[in-house]
Amino acid sequence: MTNLGNREGYALDPAWHAEKARLSSLTSLYDADTLRLAEHLGLAQGWRCLDVGAGTGSVAELIADRVGPSGSVLAVDLDTRFLDALHRENVQVRRLDVSTELLPVAAFDLVHTRLLLEHLPRRDDVLRAMVAALRPGGWLLIQDFDWASADVVHPASPVHSRIVAAIRTFLESRGYDAHYGRKLPGLLREQGLQDVSTQARSVHVHADPERGVPQWELLADQLAPGLLTLDLVSQDDLDAFHALWHDDVHDSFAPLMVSCWGRRAAERGGSADGEP
Ligand SMILES: C[S@@+](CC[C@H](N)C(=O)[O-])C[C@H]1O[C@@H](n2cnc3c(N)ncnc32)[C@H](O)[C@@H]1O
Repeated sequence: MTNLGNREGYALDPAWHAEKARLSSLTSLYDADTLRLAEHLGLAQGWRCLDVGAGTGSVAELIADRVGPSGSVLAVDLDTRFLDALHRENVQVRRLDVSTELLPVAAFDLVHTRLLLEHLPRRDDVLRAMVAALRPGGWLLIQDFDWASADVVHPASPVHSRIVAAIRTFLESRGYDAHYGRKLPGLLREQGLQDVSTQARSVHVHADPERGVPQWELLADQLAPGLLTLDLVSQDDLDAFHALWHDDVHDSFAPLMVSCWGRRAAERGGSADGEP
């Protein structure tokens, strides 16, 4: 049996040479919807916001534009190499490990995180800390994948199935939950949040001769040394995977992006500085 080792925690490497491109392939797919959902929750001038695991900072910037000079965004990440390039008066960057360090308490009108909790073995504690970071009446917006649609591809492709299964096995050995998305509505209700609602969407993907499908290919590239060492895939599999996503034939659906939101109860009698 393959020895997957016992390392736990975020399995992706912010220092990998193409990590910014990999993250950008995700932000280009999902940022517009994230902003739309935040606006649906009432995002407005003056709001104080927190983005946890802020990555490239693209969401922090979009939110900062909406909250204006009277509002603020705190962007936290384990590794701030991309965030340090942000220069905005109303964005504060902090290096912080949410699994082991404390978040501010009762401080934010909006707490957002995307594609982070699914990775963290201590996701339950981190979720609690994010709820505690909300001011009364504040909104929590969580976005995570559910791999329900990760293997949907037409025409059928054994190589896609093999690579997706290998990536999933590798990530799960570090504590990843490939079905976290479907658990979010119940988890937010358990936290006592009000007005809990959920949206699940899968992005359609077509094999593009020029661009390929970077969100899959760069993930496979980054994890390739580990996948090969553990004998989960062969180099031929990896080459065929890249060829597949450039063939102008195949269509697939990305993992479901589950967005779930709910709000902390307002203080009795309402708060002087307004609920969202
Ligand atoms: C998959 S990326 C998502 C980035 C961004 N939220 C997005 O959706 O574009 C996950 C991010 O969480 C950060 N991260 C991982 N573990 C963390 C931890 N324990 N504390 C804070 N940030 C963490 C990573 O450095 C990375 O920037």
